[in-house]
Amino acid sequence: MSDLVIVADDGPVRLIRMNRPEKKNALTLPMYDAMAAAIESAGANPALRCLLIAGGPAFCAGNDIGDFMKMAIEGGALGAPILRFLYALARTEKPLVAAVRGDAVGVGTTMLMHCDHVVAGSDARFSTPFVGLGLLPEAASSLIAPRLMGQARAFSLLVMGRPMNAEEAKSAGLVNTVAAPEDVEAEATNAARAIAALPPQGVLTARRLMRGAPDEIIARIDEEAALFKERLQSAEARAAFEAFLTRKR
Ligand code: COA
Repeated sequence: MSDLVIVADDGPVRLIRMNRPEKKNALTLPMYDAMAAAIESAGANPALRCLLIAGGPAFCAGNDIGDFMKMAIEGGALGAPILRFLYALARTEKPLVAAVRGDAVGVGTTMLMHCDHVVAGSDARFSTPFVGLGLLPEAASSLIAPRLMGQARAFSLLVMGRPMNAEEAKSAGLVNTVAAPEDVEAEATNAARAIAALPPQGVLTARRLMRGAPDEIIARIDEEAALFKERLQSAEARAAFEAFLTRKR
């Protein structure tokens, strides 16, 4: 498995760490595949009771924009590993904890909408600039975000592309706990261990009851993906990717 995603089991907790810090953990197709495989294989292992997703010092800068450009040129379909990862998030029965430091952009934020417990650093910044990039919200965020935080805040985040800081994300229901950046991983690990120490059948059943069947989420992921395909090929999207890839700093 690639070092770009590190998977490590510590007793009942599986850590899934995005590890491409020099690119702010922008996700490439092999990284989505590795993360999906880690989530899927945990499902088949009863000894694993909780999954912890981490990345830092920037949590995740979203999809790799070079990959987006490639997908646009090749017909616009979202790469299969992206959908595999999103389905894995929606279908897993294992509780998901996330440790977020720094920037969480695009899928870096929308993946958190599938998590059960999010610990954020006071330096965390959540943003989903999809529409400004000529794209659309994904990962069923168009369904989950308005339910989670209400239409006004979801519109500000998902459509207007306005970032949220850690406290705003907490009051929007996306984040459970705000910690000092250096304490985020320890806090999140403690939370994951606490979840893993609970009676496992009770956790699984309560979680399943709270979430319901994932069908509606999966259907929305598919609906968004079909529309995303059109938007990926749009002139606006290509211009936005080009501008990022050739920006001067
Ligand atoms: N895709 C590809 N490369 C990315 C990337 C992405 N989504 N996000 C960051 N990178 C790369 C940068 O190009 C840069 O590479 P370089 O050092 O080879 O030039 C490196 O990661 C560091 O990024 P930089 O922009 O210098 O870091 P920063 O701390 O100033 O800003 C971000 C961090 C996340 C705010 C900024 O990189 C950003 O806005 N990224 C794009 C996010 C985005 O739009 N994602 C798509 C969401 S749908």
